[in-house]
Amino acid sequence: MSTDVSVYEVGLRDGLQNEKAIVPLVDKVRLAQALVASGLRRIEATSFVSPKWIPQLADADAFCGALPKAENVTFSALCPNMRGLERALETTLPEIAVFISASETHNKKNLNKTIRESLDAIKDVIAGARQANRRIRGYVSTVWGCTYEGAIPIAQSLAVTRELLALGCYQVSLGDTIGAGTPGQTREILAAYLAEFRADQLALHMHDTRGTALANILVGLECGIRDFDSAIGGMGGCPYAPGAAGNVATEDLVYMLFGMGLATGVDPDRLLVAARVAEEVAGRSLPGKVHQAGWFPKRLGNGGGDVELSKLK
Ligand code: HMG
Ligand code: MG
Repeated sequence: MSTDVSVYEVGLRDGLQNEKAIVPLVDKVRLAQALVASGLRRIEATSFVSPKWIPQLADADAFCGALPKAENVTFSALCPNMRGLERALETTLPEIAVFISASETHNKKNLNKTIRESLDAIKDVIAGARQANRRIRGYVSTVWGCTYEGAIPIAQSLAVTRELLALGCYQVSLGDTIGAGTPGQTREILAAYLAEFRADQLALHMHDTRGTALANILVGLECGIRDFDSAIGGMGGCPYAPGAAGNVATEDLVYMLFGMGLATGVDPDRLLVAARVAEEVAGRSLPGKVHQAGWFPKRLGNGGGDVELSKLK
């Protein structure tokens, strides 16, 4: 199915890494099935990080073996180091993601390394992944600001992004890790980025701590970005970035895109089912708005296709 905008689902990873409770494997599989059924085609499943640092994802190896078989879905997982890559290469995941921060302090807290040390580690991970024919995506965190350091100069995040792309990432997702960004700032950041990189080399990964994620994404769309990360139900947050709330909710993002006539390939009804499963799995109500309010109007006549929406209980 042709899509105008690519939604990259991170609920199983960014979402579950930040839940207090450790979600049992069987529930993770149920959520993965619901996400696949909703038509999402890029799904970050988990992280091959240290279980001491992120115990919520300690079952990454077993979970990858239990993922639904879905030919047209690309599953991926975070890999911080060679140990992570070795684990990833034991699976059939076609894609991995490396991550680094534009803030020296956040990088140290999150990866226990300086930015330079992290880039050296990432170089090896990327070389190994390429040799094994896996695609590599990159993340740069704290582009819009850092809890520890405050404002981060654009030149700093540009420099790290440049290295990730040169090393072989097909795309770098720019993270508003703490959800601090506002639209004017986003326009300024993207102008600097798009003076150097193609739009398809970039994605936006907006946390919604202060309610500005969709506004920033709209600016991204106006600037030509077509890849956006989101988490079902609005789960998410980095345990090593205090004050970070969840990612923009996938259903809120898809709702806005539908209304703008932009196709995502996602089935709206089934997406709300997935959001309900996410709430069950998390054992709490999740902050996304559209799964609470429902779709409006019931019959959509544009980008999402002419879909008759059944009434959700
Ligand atoms: P360290 O403590 O410096 O590592 O952590 P180490 O090499 O000294 O190893 C410590 C122990 O962990 C050893 O075990 C290793 O074997 C083990 P021990 O000998 O003590 O029993 N270990 C591993 N085990 C399994 N898999 C591995 C692995 N590596 C080491 N891959 C390390 C360094 C990178 C491991 C650690 O800092 C880490 O795991 N950090 C990950 C933190 C994280 O996942 N943060 C959240 C994701 S980033 C994010 O959310 C932002 C993002 O969403 C974008 C945005 O929002 O901006 C992506
Ligand atoms: Mg994140």
